[in-house]
Formats: sequence, C-alpha cells, structure tokens
Amino acid sequence: MDKIKIIGGKPLFGKVYISGAKNTALPIICASLLTDEPVTIQNIPFLSDIKSLNALLLQIGTNIEEKAEERNGHLTQTITYHTPQPTSLVAPYDYVRKMRASYYVLGPLLTKYGHVELSLPGGCAIGARPMDIHLSSLEQMGAKIEIKNGYVVADIDGRLKGAHVAFHSASVGATCNILMAAALAEGTTVIENAAKEPEIADLIDVLNKMGAQIEGANTSTLTIHGVEKLHGVTHEIINDRIEAGSYAVAAAITHGRVELVNAPAQYLQTPLDILRKTGAKVEMTDTGFIVDAQNVKLVGQDVFTDYYPGFPTDLQAQFMALMCVSEGAAMITESIWENRFMHVPELMRMGANINVHGHASAIVRGVEKLSAAPVMSTDLRASFALILAGLVAEGETIVNRVYHLDRGYEHLEEKFKAIGADIERIKIPD
Ligand code: UD1
Repeated sequence: MDKIKIIGGKPLFGKVYISGAKNTALPIICASLLTDEPVTIQNIPFLSDIKSLNALLLQIGTNIEEKAEERNGHLTQTITYHTPQPTSLVAPYDYVRKMRASYYVLGPLLTKYGHVELSLPGGCAIGARPMDIHLSSLEQMGAKIEIKNGYVVADIDGRLKGAHVAFHSASVGATCNILMAAALAEGTTVIENAAKEPEIADLIDVLNKMGAQIEGANTSTLTIHGVEKLHGVTHEIINDRIEAGSYAVAAAITHGRVELVNAPAQYLQTPLDILRKTGAKVEMTDTGFIVDAQNVKLVGQDVFTDYYPGFPTDLQAQFMALMCVSEGAAMITESIWENRFMHVPELMRMGANINVHGHASAIVRGVEKLSAAPVMSTDLRASFALILAGLVAEGETIVNRVYHLDRGYEHLEEKFKAIGADIERIKIPD
C-alpha cells in the first residue's frame, strides 16, 4: 500500500519515453497458448499486470524466459512464452481477481485443448463488467458452458465450429477472445460489431504471423478462416496510446513542454484534437509528438467517451482533471462504463467544481487553483488523474493505494522526475 507524494506547481519540461501497450501485451501473451512452439514478444512493459498474468501462465505450465533489453532508446522487456503441454487448464480465482484480463486464457485453452475452467472475474470499481458476449459466442461455436461454483466450465467435442456471431456491444475483450478461439476452429467465423481498437489490429497481426487467416483488421467485421495449427513467432507490440495520452495531459495541465518519444499519435486523433482545442499546441515529431502549453490559457472542452476511434474511456479521468483547471465549463460524458466517476469526489476534495448528473455525465467548471489533499486511488486511470491534479495543486498531495498505478504505468515516478516533477514514492512495509 505505497503512497505517492507530490508537491504541485512545477511546469514539466523534457522527454518521456512511452512504453509498450499493456492492453495489447495481455491478449498477445495469451495467444502464445495457441501453439506448442515458443512465442517471443518484444516491447512488453514492466508492470504488475504483466507479472500477474505471467504467474497465471506459469501455473498453466508455460515456460517463461524474460530478458531486459534496450529498444527504441529505453529499457524494455522481451519475453518468450513456451507451452509444449499445459499442466493445468484452470484459471483460479486468486489469479483472475488480481487481474481481470486473465480471462484471455479462455478462448486459447478451449480451442486448443478442448476444456477450460475460468474463475468469473466479477465486477470492479468502474462497472459490472459482464462476460455474456464471450460466453454466448463460444456457445454459438459449439462450446458447452456451465457456471459452477463461480467458475466458467467450458468443453468442446473435437474442435470449435466456425459461426456467424453478432456482438451487442463492440467489446475489446470479447473480440480478442473470439478471434483467438476462432483461429483454430473448424470453418469460418464472422464477428459482426467487433471492436476496432488498435490493440485488436496488433493481435490480428501476431495471429496472422502465427499462421492464422484473419481478414478485416481495423473494421467492425472480422472474418476468421480456422486453421488446424499455429506456429511460433517473434513480435514487437505497439506502444501505449493511453500512457501517451496521460503524459500529454501532464504537459498541458502544468503549462509545460514535453516530448513524448515513441508515442503512437495515429491512435490518439480524437483526444489530441480536444487537447488542441483547449489551447495546447500539439506538434508531430519523427517518433511521437510534443505537447506545449507554455503561456497558454487553457479553455475547457466537452468530452464524450466512445468506442475507438471515439474518445477512449481510459483517458476520461485524466481529461477531467485538465478541465478542472481550464477556463469555463466542460461536459464530460461516459458512455462505456456505468460507474466511472469515482475520481470526482477525490478531485472535489482538492477544490474542483464538478456536478455529476446521473451516472453518465458531469459538468466541470474550471477553477483558478486546486489545493493539495490526501486522496485515494480508486482505479488505474483515476489514480493518474489524481497525480495530475496533485501536479498543479498548491502544497503536498498524497495519493494513497498506488498499487492501481503500478498495474498500468511503467516507472511512473522516474518518468515524472525526468521531466521535473516533485514526486516521490513513500514505501509502506507490508
Ligand atoms: C478493455 C480495456 C479497458 C477499457 C475497455 C473499453 C483491457 C485489458 N482493458 O476492457 O481498459 O476501458 O476495453 O475500451 O484491454 N460488455 C458486455 N458484455 C461482455 C463484454 C463487454 O456487455 O461480454 C460491455 C461492457 O459492460 C462495456 C462495453 O461492453 O460497457 C465495453 O467493454 P469491453 O470492451 O469488453 O472492455 P474490456 O475488454 O473489459
């Protein structure tokens, strides 16, 4: 239960190296279960979510070889996953409750080994997080699924069968799971209303390199011609658009100038358009972009979260923090998760002026100043929003429960210190 202490008021200047994308690494690591050959994944970020997933794969019987290496100007991880024969087809509760994306083992284990037992992850701070789309699609592909003692128990006779599945929501998780399951199914699967997030295109890229036959990347209709066998591969994952967007807001909110090296601007068009409208300058570079908000009066802008290429829900809290100290009113609407305003009461404790209407919209009226306070992290992205508020608040802010941040922001204090923030981790012994 470490804490982070920030003394606000310093504009940030310099460079931040953006890491590999957590939400791409997680499904791609699980895709390694689709082959008995080694799969080497480059550019994996150093994060506790990756450690949690590795722990689950170890108990499934995967051999894991980790290597730290310098890539694109900074230290990254290359990890080789090799599962010649699993020793367990169970994803136990203790693993899944720590890291919900453990559910990415469902599709691969079922399609390759015919059986899987996955603890249901349950809800979390941001919403109920159902799995109905994953399960009903697998059933349409011939899986027999039962819920027993909190577990999904899934079985197939022979191979999964290709099917035409239409998702009621463009779910990222279900798209990944069904893509992986369908890659080894018999016949052709078509997914209608698939998610189009860049993480999906990266997964399709790696699956196709492994021998899968998937068409339609970056569109909402995916066609998967099942094959009998997939082989090993080496693949470098894309960089993290959400981490890049988060540090972009840090540059803007502190009226600094920060270069985001290796930042995938092409996946951030909607948030960068909004950032520009606030008055911050966004300038492209060869490897990323620069955000410059020196001597700029920031003006509040509305934000509406939506499926990609809409505004990402995973940047909503950070942009809300920015609007708290921008001039005028901004309406923030959350359309993906039903409970994603948990950061609002914490921001209000720091002097923000926010009115939440129902559970989907909030009006933020910009204030001149925030003041430091002890605050509580509630989820990964909300925690970063509190750090942002702390960077501009007068005095010393303490952010409690930082394990949320460690799940998804690699070397957070080091990256902030490198651009001049007064930030420190207070270690609390277990
Ligand atoms: C992923 C991201 C998460 C991000 C979210 C939306 C990972 C590890 N996490 O989560 O950071 O906030 O995408 O961009 O990549 N839904 C159903 N039934 C289902 C599945 C989903 O109704 O079976 C609904 C959800 O309640 C939600 C919407 O679909 O309203 C989107 O959820 P989904 O895209 O599945 O989110 P995750 O993949 O869990």
